[in-house]
Amino acid sequence: MKEHLTRRRFIHQTAAGSAALTLLGTGMAPMATAAEASKPALLGGAPVHQGGWPGWPVWRETWEPAVLEVLRSGRWFRGSGEHVAEFELAYAQLLGARRCLATASGTTALLVALQVMDVDAGDEVIVSPFTFIATYNAILNQRALPVFADTDPATLTIDPATIESRITERTRAILPVHIYGMPCDMDPINAIAKKHGFAVIEDACQAWLAEYKGRKCGTLGDLGCFSFQNSKHLPSGEGGAVTGNSDDLVDRCQAFHNCGRAFGNFKGSGSFTRGSNFRMQQFQAVILLQQFEKLTRETAVRRENAELLGAGLRQIPGIQPARLPENSRAVWHLYPLRYDASQFHGLTRDQFVRALNAEGIPCGGGYTEQYNDGLLDEAIHSRGFKRLFSEARLKAYRESFRELKGNRQVCANTVGMSQNLLLAGRAEVNHIVEAIGKIQAHSEALAKAAR
Ligand SMILES: Cc1ncc(COP(=O)(O)O)c(C=O)c1O
Repeated sequence: MKEHLTRRRFIHQTAAGSAALTLLGTGMAPMATAAEASKPALLGGAPVHQGGWPGWPVWRETWEPAVLEVLRSGRWFRGSGEHVAEFELAYAQLLGARRCLATASGTTALLVALQVMDVDAGDEVIVSPFTFIATYNAILNQRALPVFADTDPATLTIDPATIESRITERTRAILPVHIYGMPCDMDPINAIAKKHGFAVIEDACQAWLAEYKGRKCGTLGDLGCFSFQNSKHLPSGEGGAVTGNSDDLVDRCQAFHNCGRAFGNFKGSGSFTRGSNFRMQQFQAVILLQQFEKLTRETAVRRENAELLGAGLRQIPGIQPARLPENSRAVWHLYPLRYDASQFHGLTRDQFVRALNAEGIPCGGGYTEQYNDGLLDEAIHSRGFKRLFSEARLKAYRESFRELKGNRQVCANTVGMSQNLLLAGRAEVNHIVEAIGKIQAHSEALAKAAR
C-alpha cells in the first residue's frame, strides 16, 4: 500500500501521531495499545519490531558430505585437490569473467591485483575514501599512496568528476569500490584510466552479482577483487578471488599468489618470480561451491525488499535512499539511507540510530572519516614513505583530506542496515519504514529528550 501513499497523506498521518502509523506496515505488535505503539520505544513506547531478524551466516545439512569428503581425504591444500580450481571455473562463469583466481581473503586478492598491475613502492593509487579499511591498507602495503577522490553524496561511491584533479606523475591505478554492493559509475572511470594509461582495479569485495550496464561488477576494469569473509553474501569464513578477462594478467596473479611459481604462459624470470602465499584451501572452496544457487536466490530477495524499502522511505521527509548509476543493479550488502537532521528537529544522526535500534531495527552509522584516524599519519611518517615521497608531497597529501567535502557529508549523514534484514519477509521490512515514520513523527520530542 505504501506505493500508493502520497507524501502529504503520509505526513498528515504521522503528524497525527496516532495508530494510523500501523497502516504503513502489516506487522505491528498486536499486544501494544495504540498509544504505546505510537510512542517511540526510546520514550517508553512499544518497539515496532519485536523478535529477531534472519541470522547470518547460514549452513545447510546438505553441505556436510562435501566438507566431510575433503576432511577425510586429507587433501586440504589446493595443490592436492581439485575443488579450488573447480570453484575458480564456476565463479568465473557465474560472473561472466574469462578467468578467476581464488585467494585466502579479499585483502590478499587486492594485494595480488595491485602487484600484478605493477603498483610499486612510491606509486600513487586514486581510490574511494568511503570503504572498509582493508582497501587503504592494501595500497599502503605496496608502499604506495592511497590518494582519495571524493565521494558523491548521492551515490556514496567515488565521484568520477573528482578523479582527474588527483592525478600526479606517480599515479598508476584507479581503485573504485562498489561499496555496499552499489556499482560505481564505471564508464567515466574507465575513460579516465584509458586516457592516462592507468590500471583499473575494482574493489568488488561487497558486490557479488552487482551489475553495471549488463555486466557484473568485478569484470569491468582490468582486475576485480572479491571477499568471501563470514559476513559476506557468499561466505566461507575467509576467502577471496581476483577476476579478469586477460589470461596474461590472471596467469600473473596465479603465479604471485602461489609463492611466485610460474603459471600458464607467465614464466617470469625463470621458474620463480616474486610472490607470496595467498592460496585458498579446499575447505573454503567446497563451502563456496555449495552456495551459488543460494546467492542468486537471496540476491533476488534482497533486491525485491530493497525496492519495497526504498518506495516507503522516499515518502518520509528527511530520508533519502542512495541513487544508483543508470542501468545498474545493486546487491545491498548494506542498505544505506541519507539522513537529514534538519527534517527531524535537529535529532542527530547518532540519536536517530539509537531511536531506530530501540524500535528493534539494527542499524549503524557506517564508515567514518578514517583518513583522520592516524593510520595514514603513521604511514606517511614512516621511514619507508619518507624515503619514497618528498616532504612537500606528503604535506600536500595530508592537507588534501580537507577537500573531501562529499565524503565528510556521507560519513556524517549515512545510516546503514545490514543485508540480513533484507532477507526477512515483506511485513518485517515494512517495520523498518514504520519505525522511521514513527521517529519522524516524534522527532521533536526525541530531540528534546536527547538534549
Ligand atoms: C570493501 C572491502 N574491501 C576489502 C575487504 C577485505 O576483505 P577480507 O576481509 O576478505 O580480507 C572488505 C572486507 O570486508 C571490504 O568490505
